[in-house]
Amino acid sequence: MELEVFVNQLCERIIAYINSAEQPGKVVDFTPAESLSKITDVSLPLEGNGVDAVFDDIDEFIRRCVKTNRPEFMNPLWGGLNTTGFAGEVIAALTNTSMYTYELAPFATLIEQAILKRMGELVGFSGGAGTLSTGGSNGNMLGMLCAREVAFPSSTHRGIDGTKMAAFVSSESHYSVLMSANVIGIGHRNLFKIACDADGRMKPDALLEEIARARQEGLTPFCVVSTSGTTVRGAFDPLKAIGEIAHAEGMWHHVDAAWGGSAMFSATLSKLMDGVELADSVCWDAHKMMGLPLICSAFMVKQSDVLAKVCAHGNVAHYLFHESSKDHDLGRYSLQCGRRNDALKLWLAWRECGDAGWAALVEKYVGLADHLQSRIDAHPNLEMMSPRSWTNVCFRYVPAAAGMDLNEVNSEVRSRVMENANFMVSRSNIGEDVIIRSVISNPGITEHSLDAFIDELLRIGNDVETGMPREASF
Ligand SMILES: Cc1ncc(COP(=O)(O)O)c(C=O)c1O
Repeated sequence: MELEVFVNQLCERIIAYINSAEQPGKVVDFTPAESLSKITDVSLPLEGNGVDAVFDDIDEFIRRCVKTNRPEFMNPLWGGLNTTGFAGEVIAALTNTSMYTYELAPFATLIEQAILKRMGELVGFSGGAGTLSTGGSNGNMLGMLCAREVAFPSSTHRGIDGTKMAAFVSSESHYSVLMSANVIGIGHRNLFKIACDADGRMKPDALLEEIARARQEGLTPFCVVSTSGTTVRGAFDPLKAIGEIAHAEGMWHHVDAAWGGSAMFSATLSKLMDGVELADSVCWDAHKMMGLPLICSAFMVKQSDVLAKVCAHGNVAHYLFHESSKDHDLGRYSLQCGRRNDALKLWLAWRECGDAGWAALVEKYVGLADHLQSRIDAHPNLEMMSPRSWTNVCFRYVPAAAGMDLNEVNSEVRSRVMENANFMVSRSNIGEDVIIRSVISNPGITEHSLDAFIDELLRIGNDVETGMPREASF
């Protein structure tokens, strides 16, 4: 097949996929793993199938994939398709390079530096340093590594006795902070989980108590991780109060703004992150609310030299880094060696819409979440399960008949929503309660699609309540 024919065939599929989001359809052709492995062929041939067969495989892949670009997709903290970002992703793959040296990625380096500068300014870190990383999880780990290096100078070089160290995070934080505790060498046990208030925000007085308890146990507190936009409830920890405590106690303050960082674009919503400018490091995922294709995530630190120290392993790489381009080799600020060009897609999208476009997007999403909440509040069979400040809408179905186990009912409702695949939302817990969490972070969502979601949920809830069997069975 000629190259031009190949590319045209590819483009046809891309256009069909993008257009399909606006036509009636399911979010996924839901098939349990045991069945899917029987009806598909993923074997790797000894002799190649040839280029024509590539399109059969692509078609099969698209048929089977979750249509994350559909407006009914409201499951994780990301969704939809930013077409300019997609173009950046394609061009980045086409021009395939690694971000470690200026030599190999000259214009991309300037682009990434411009993005980090602007995002740094937005969180109040002018003059700091940063890197695009593999995601918020990696950003949290980088923040804790920086904290470790500052509390125990040269620990990057000499190592540490992590069993004597203590870090603190809210009980509703993302699980990546636990992973980070493992990787930086303090272990899960030395990450203290701090109680939250009724809105899911870390309680500063509880933080003070836990710091005192850690000291009594002979541990050295060195880092507090706050969350701006928690995974389940979308809560924003009080950054000012926590930051003041962290610094008064001689600790580093890292802010996990993977989900909520985009609030900084909005004049009204940025108040949720008051005090971020006093923090020491922040991570912020552009692949979440800003809608860039996965992965696109920034880690920023106020004191630039700390990140350079944490990444000092690069100093031995004479085959990559040379003195002459010291200030422009981004690999000196990264834990990765080979690194994708994630900057291009964000830069193109940002140039297209400007700060004003991001602000409008974020405010639109919060307005849509208000609409969904108003529909829930207005219906006797639906109940909000958490106050809201962001676009996480946590609720459950409440049968009219008394005496049913609400956790069983809501687990069943959510399973049926998944199997019907007209919508995709997540199931989670708040305390002991099973809840349904829908998230507005997808540009295709409208009030109309949210109304249709409520109709579907009430219909399924009623089926469960009245003992109707499932529509689909596998
Ligand atoms: C609050 C929070 N922090 C960090 C992460 C991890 O982000 P990533 O998936 O980009 O590693 C998530 C993911 O949902 C999150 O909700």
